[in-house]
Amino acid sequence: MIIVQLSDLHCSSGPQFLRDKLTTAINEINELNPDLVIIAGDLTENGFKTEFEEAKRFIDQIKCPKKIITMGNHDSLYTGYLLFEEFFNSPSGILELPDCKVIYVNTARPDRDEGRVGRDQIKFIQENFEEGKMNILVMHHHLIPVPDTGLEVAIVEDAGDVLKVLSKHKPDLVLSGHRHRPWMWKLNDIDFLFSGAVSTIRLRGFFENSYNVIKIKGRRIWAKLKIVGGPYIDFDRLT
Ligand SMILES: [Fe+2]
Ligand SMILES: [Fe+2]
Repeated sequence: MIIVQLSDLHCSSGPQFLRDKLTTAINEINELNPDLVIIAGDLTENGFKTEFEEAKRFIDQIKCPKKIITMGNHDSLYTGYLLFEEFFNSPSGILELPDCKVIYVNTARPDRDEGRVGRDQIKFIQENFEEGKMNILVMHHHLIPVPDTGLEVAIVEDAGDVLKVLSKHKPDLVLSGHRHRPWMWKLNDIDFLFSGAVSTIRLRGFFENSYNVIKIKGRRIWAKLKIVGGPYIDFDRLT
């Protein structure tokens, strides 16, 4: 099974949005023929309707039977959280596949850079992890600080409460975006995989646009970073 994790498209009419990079990334992803594509938020720069229209035009070009699209802090600006559900599905939910169960939650709050999971969604996560199955959790914001990103800001505010639940239930993988810096942490036997930014010039610490390619066989996971228009890089080398 192949999963592609991308985030931080930041579609906009401004020069910071790199259309050509996104087109290249989508062509590469289509060649991979993935089973699932996870888009972990910040589809737009400001949550404007025209930006959502452009994001949807690009995302519709991704040829994959299953897509998970969750909301980032930039998508919730200017009441973009209302538009998000017009253009895409609910930013939280569950996707059951033969090999795994993916739980995704919305950490974006109106007009705030910081993320929050909240008591209801923590309960939702807790109740839906399934023993004996591969469990994957997706959220836009980061639960653990990512290095080379400057001072720590805009983390999940209730990260401690979420990490406590994760440490008990041990999902196989937690996928996030937001910091525009690809990285991988292992904490309490859980892999936390962060995608870089796929199509904006606003990069941190790692100065290439990228996305992640994850291969799953049984309960084994291999993850690699893919530079848009460039090579694959092992996370071991990156971290
Ligand atoms: Fe972003
Ligand atoms: Fe973000």
